[in-house]
Amino acid sequence: FKTLDQLQPAGKKVLLRADLNVPVKGGQITDATRLLRLLPTIQELAQKGARVIVVSHFDRPKGQRVPEMSLAPIADALGDALGRPVTFADDCIGPVAQKAVDAMQDGDVVVLENTRFHPGEEANDPDLAKSLASLADFYVNDAFSAAHRAHASTEGVARHLPSFAGRLMETELNALNIALENPERPVGAIIGGAKISTKLDLIGNLLEKVQVLIIGGAMANTFLAAQGVKVGRSLQEGEMHDTARAILAKAREKGCEVVLPVDAVTATEFKANVPTQVVAIDAIPDDAMILDVGPQTVRDLCAKIATLKTLVWNGPLGAFEIPPFDAGTNAVAQEVGRLTHEGRLKSIAGGGDTVSALRHAGVTKEISYISTAGGAFLEWLEGKTLPGIMALESVFERALPI
Ligand code: 3PG
Repeated sequence: FKTLDQLQPAGKKVLLRADLNVPVKGGQITDATRLLRLLPTIQELAQKGARVIVVSHFDRPKGQRVPEMSLAPIADALGDALGRPVTFADDCIGPVAQKAVDAMQDGDVVVLENTRFHPGEEANDPDLAKSLASLADFYVNDAFSAAHRAHASTEGVARHLPSFAGRLMETELNALNIALENPERPVGAIIGGAKISTKLDLIGNLLEKVQVLIIGGAMANTFLAAQGVKVGRSLQEGEMHDTARAILAKAREKGCEVVLPVDAVTATEFKANVPTQVVAIDAIPDDAMILDVGPQTVRDLCAKIATLKTLVWNGPLGAFEIPPFDAGTNAVAQEVGRLTHEGRLKSIAGGGDTVSALRHAGVTKEISYISTAGGAFLEWLEGKTLPGIMALESVFERALPI
């Protein structure tokens, strides 16, 4: 699809779909990564003389005007990050938005209010899409992390304007392409997290694409229990045992090696710094819970990962939020960081928890690529076509020559 390389935006109004949906606690942005990763696109457009109209959703106001979900404070933070003033308009369409756009000079940046204050955003209402499009000459989508939503500002609007991928969108798609579509083999994936039921499609797709599938987190307990291992009081999904066995059978058929823990760190309570016990996976006491992978598993995983050329990581290996159950995830993350740093591995990670776990392990700088996406990263791993990206691709055929 077309990128900013094909866009001559001088003197033109560009509607830039960003993802300003950053985590906020007590009025403070707790992680500004999404804002920072957006800066190259805004700076490039502004430097080329475009009038940059930024639109985004924030949180889930469900079509209502919820004052706590206003983008106004985020617009200020974006201005600080850009080091230049950013104007904020109290609505994303209508006279308020139009007035702010009419007052723009070349190189200016305006942020419009939360698109989800209008019910038409999530409904992908063509009228809302048209109103958004009427503000600009071009549409640039830089919100890979919202590309799994077929909403008016991510999909509908691309039907009305010549459309382009922003720099962050381009970078995300290139990295994901390197990870699964065109990877250096052997390729492995670490899939962790609590439930198989939420990651079935993802595991199904990965079995077709990777040679090694490392399963961690509570999800591993379900696979173990499905094979008759006694997991004590560990979190697991009893109703998913048949599915887990079917996945293992399919993996064998596809020649994909599934790696499960061989030992575990257990406790009888899930609390910080409770007494813990390291036990072999076939010796979990009845009253114990598996809360992390054990040291032998860590050694095995590190050795296995050292044989890979590409690794995709989604989901922690243990209950990393509560020490000491972060030890397994930390140790494996540090080894992934080291191998990547030495140029022996390409590592691509994404999904909310995964990024926090890698940050907690102190290795975010070493990982080859960390996606800004949560849900969109998962849907991409599932092999789904993301509507925001499809809209960019199909519209290009119809786009007016420029
Ligand atoms: C995200 O944070 O994953 C994106 O901004 C999408 O948000 P949503 O899950 O509320 O659609």
